[in-house]
Amino acid sequence: MEFSVQVAEEKHQEYALEICRQIEESAKARGTGIAKRDPEYIKLKMREGKAVIALAQDGTFAGFCYIETWSHGNYVANSGLIVNPVFRQAGLAKRIKEQAFNLSRQLFPAAKIVGLTTSLPVMKINSDLGYQPVTLSELPAEDQFWKGCQSCVNYDILTRTNRKHCLCTGMMYDPKWEDEKKKTEVVQEAKQEFGLHGKLYERWLRFKAFVLLRDYEKIKEEEAQKRQKPSNGASKPEKILASWLHSWF
Ligand SMILES: CC(C)(COP(=O)(O)OP(=O)(O)OC[C@H]1O[C@@H](n2cnc3c(N)ncnc32)[C@H](O)[C@@H]1OP(=O)(O)O)[C@@H](O)C(=O)NCCC(=O)NCCS
Repeated sequence: MEFSVQVAEEKHQEYALEICRQIEESAKARGTGIAKRDPEYIKLKMREGKAVIALAQDGTFAGFCYIETWSHGNYVANSGLIVNPVFRQAGLAKRIKEQAFNLSRQLFPAAKIVGLTTSLPVMKINSDLGYQPVTLSELPAEDQFWKGCQSCVNYDILTRTNRKHCLCTGMMYDPKWEDEKKKTEVVQEAKQEFGLHGKLYERWLRFKAFVLLRDYEKIKEEEAQKRQKPSNGASKPEKILASWLHSWF
């Protein structure tokens, strides 16, 4: 089946109620307490261009996800991921998350992208996007971020452990890792290139040494031969000087 996966706009606001209903129902079915979403908040995200929506060809709601920023834009979270149960296991969550990830990178290129999840498919998708599991202490510290967990059945675990542990896994993508990866790749490339050119350079040096040393040996040999000539074999200028001195004294 064909789906359109796009950055949500004002015209998609009509889907806000359906999105909230599906989020709530899937939370009930899973026995978790995914934070209830306010349709007005979902609409705001659509108007701001900070959400991704998937629709079937006939306009049926297929999936959704939105992005939020924390700690003055230092962190971005992709939240509220939902795929209509009738369209699940067809790679739709993957497409939605990919688009939300690209949107987050585009809008907040320096921000760390974070998430909290117990969902295996989400962990899988996140890992494919380059997220790594992190301790909860690496996630935004502000209360507002954790407020979303209040309606979860496991919230007491989180508070009891001082936000250090819970059943959710914290995941993070840090753009710096990408920079470091790129740097390492550049260094590796340079090393490889130098390895290649290094070999050529080495061969060139060996060739130069061979030619120059051969000439040097030749010069040395010629000089040695000159030195070996008999002592009376004075050079021409020496002979002229000697006869000139002789004529005077
Ligand atoms: C979780 C959810 C979004 C996944 O949506 P989906 O469209 O079915 O996921 P995809 O088809 O893109 O699957 C992504 C990967 O997870 C795997 N996967 C999907 N459902 C799975 C399941 N129930 N168990 C194990 N793996 C699963 C897929 O095989 C795929 O892996 P692959 O890339 O190796 O093929 C959907 O089940 C859902 O809306 N659940 C309720 C809300 C929810 O849990 N949201 C997440 C809150 S953090």
